[in-house]
Amino acid sequence: RDRRISTKDISARSADDPIVALTAYTMPMAKLLDPHCDLILVGDSLGMVVYGLDSTLGVTLDMMIAHGQAVMRGASRACVVVDMPFGSYQESREIAFRNAARIMAETGCAAVKLEGGVEMAETVAFLVARGIPVLGHVGLKPQSVHSHGGFRVQGRDEAMAEAIRRDAEAIAAAGAFAVVLEGTVEPLARAIAADLAAPVIGIGATPAAQGQILVSEDILGLYGEFTPKFVKRYADLGAAAAEAIAAYAREVRAHQFPAPEHCFGVVPAKASAKVK
Ligand code: KIV
Ligand code: NA
Repeated sequence: RDRRISTKDISARSADDPIVALTAYTMPMAKLLDPHCDLILVGDSLGMVVYGLDSTLGVTLDMMIAHGQAVMRGASRACVVVDMPFGSYQESREIAFRNAARIMAETGCAAVKLEGGVEMAETVAFLVARGIPVLGHVGLKPQSVHSHGGFRVQGRDEAMAEAIRRDAEAIAAAGAFAVVLEGTVEPLARAIAADLAAPVIGIGATPAAQGQILVSEDILGLYGEFTPKFVKRYADLGAAAAEAIAAYAREVRAHQFPAPEHCFGVVPAKASAKVK
């Protein structure tokens, strides 16, 4: 396929042909994901994964735009979506539009994602009607970590389950091209995926969803601070990197690196012996 995957293509997907999604914050990661993923999310999880913050609340619009630009340079095929950070869309639909428009114009991405349900539906409809495709995000909403009382599985009691169901429906009805459903008990997630008009992209949700997303650093073993139960680790690149770094340090200290082949011109004999 030579055409970039669009939000319309994503909207048309079903569980028979699930949406494969991962996060990227940089050009090299985007390049690795692009041949394999339908959707690449520039997630505000970068605040925790790249910047070492405790939550996503400190992420700024400028950070999202800089990383969105980097990801766009590495992705030519996947549908790239950029997260709207905390504080950039909650205040009013007009402010949301202005900030979403900046993200779209300055990165060239296909869509934005924002967290929220019933209370954000009007904003989602406002953006969608004005040419900005929106990916919803309901269930566990990391930007609401303080309201949730921690990173907690959502939907355990019936009242909360009903609220999440209404949130997903409101965002789909507002015109979101798909909805991320995070950290939600499986039977509820399954029911939402079965009933919702828009495809559900699950993370800690259900195998019955129309798509799946995870944080790339989590599946690659590159983020060790906190690994939720829903993450499957497909590689341990963190351990491989630690070994490589230790080997470099050993060789520099032992005067084994650089060797003559890493130098320009002729290296005198015994150059590798300890100088001084
Ligand atoms: O910020 C993020 O990485 C996300 C996904 C994990 C859905 O919002
Ligand atoms: Na996010």
